[in-house]
Amino acid sequence: MEITELKRQAAERAVDFVESGMIVGLGEGSTAIYAIRRIGQLIAAGALCDILGVPCSRNVEETARALGIPLTTLDDHPAIDLTIDGADEVDPALNLIKGGGGALLREKMVAQASRREIIVVDHSKLSAALGTRWPLPIEVLEFGWKAQLRFLEGLGGQPVLRCRADGSPYRTDQGGFILDTRFGPIADPWALAAQLDARAGIIGHGLFLGLATDLIVASPDGVRHVRRS
Ligand code: A5P
Repeated sequence: MEITELKRQAAERAVDFVESGMIVGLGEGSTAIYAIRRIGQLIAAGALCDILGVPCSRNVEETARALGIPLTTLDDHPAIDLTIDGADEVDPALNLIKGGGGALLREKMVAQASRREIIVVDHSKLSAALGTRWPLPIEVLEFGWKAQLRFLEGLGGQPVLRCRADGSPYRTDQGGFILDTRFGPIADPWALAAQLDARAGIIGHGLFLGLATDLIVASPDGVRHVRRS
């Protein structure tokens, strides 16, 4: 079965948990987009009403608006009922690496504001230890970014500045740079997150620890729903 079909199945299953009247966080990425489209369809069909979406990126904001999903902001609605988002890597405790799409900071803010954070993935995202399959995206200020490069090397990482196809630095919605940093399997993600959180100039990082409440994973064998214990 195509990976895109698995992404669709996982995302659409998550939409079963969306109820009329909810404030819904709308995640970024090629999996979460299927949830956004489904929510748009259900609103158009009258099956969902009084939904307000909180988009995790400008790109999602445009897409959701085009689909007719009414939008709000974290400022106006600081408590979100449910967020549906993707992930790059998921460990057995439902800790995540996110940020392949560059929206990690807003995604984490929305996740922290969410009563329920449902992560939707295909089975290729499952991993015994974070960092095994994916570099960790770390968002930094442009000011002094090379100092962050050296800091991350000092932590044992191999940071690479994310660039666009034309070779210019990729910029996040906030204008930050992203250092995709390969650590290999991360023995203690909580300790690494604390070091990154303490560093001035690092705006955000893709370690999402203790934030996912639910995981919906689609594989050729079917769709599985796991709740964080
Ligand atoms: C966006 O910044 C990311 O966190 C995505 O949610 C993550 O990269 C998963 O993306 P895909 O669903 O496209 O694999």
